[in-house]
Amino acid sequence: MYEYKEMAKYYDIFYSNKLYDKEVKFLIYLISSKKSILDVGCGTGIHIKLLEEKGYQVDGLDLNKEMLNIAKGRVSGTLYEGNLLDFKIDKKYDVIISMFAVFNHLKSYEEFEKGIINCLEHLKDKGMLIIDLHNGRTSGKKENKYGNCIRIMDWNYDEITSREYTKINYIIDDKSYHDTHEFLIYKIDKIKEILNKYNLNYRLYENYSFSDANKMSKNIEIVINK
Ligand SMILES: C[S@@+](CC[C@H](N)C(=O)[O-])C[C@H]1O[C@@H](n2cnc3c(N)ncnc32)[C@H](O)[C@@H]1O
Repeated sequence: MYEYKEMAKYYDIFYSNKLYDKEVKFLIYLISSKKSILDVGCGTGIHIKLLEEKGYQVDGLDLNKEMLNIAKGRVSGTLYEGNLLDFKIDKKYDVIISMFAVFNHLKSYEEFEKGIINCLEHLKDKGMLIIDLHNGRTSGKKENKYGNCIRIMDWNYDEITSREYTKINYIIDDKSYHDTHEFLIYKIDKIKEILNKYNLNYRLYENYSFSDANKMSKNIEIVINK
């Protein structure tokens, strides 16, 4: 997968239309006065930067150092290279966020459960864990052009495997790069089954609003209160 490695330097260009401000407004509404935050799968650090501007102390963690290198130039918080499944940071946070499909990169519900437990271990008592999931259940194709950078995405949702398979063709300065990625699309019943197993107090919202999520929501935000 090139997207977070060779293509990391183009990430902000390709996602320049993403509504980060709306997402951060939603986060701040939930977080209110709680101050220390860890952004798991922080990517290039856009949420961190916007939250820092509002006075929060935010650290970040990501699997890919190419993404972290870009975040480094943008944020003040500490950045950690690590996997959400097994990272260990010698600190507990008031809030942990994981925005924009980070958990969709996991391979199975067992990994989903493991990732949640690991995040909860890094939360203070009465802390909050917010996980933003992509819930793509359609197939389609789209082309985006940003100056001399073009990205053509062709995605297919497979109901049987509950996975979204995406082929991406980047054309940058007339050079072509092909990439693929696979997302696990979570079933709401299975999410609830896992969270109920640990007696967690949670809500499932949709699309950075306070409406309850349903099968067809574009995004699902899991909000767990420890
Ligand atoms: C779609 S990007 C989202 C980045 C950022 N949160 C944002 O909203 O722009 C997904 C990020 O998750 C990271 N990632 C994927 N799997 C991960 C894992 N197991 N542990 C930590 N980070 C992971 C990738 O490196 C990438 O930066």
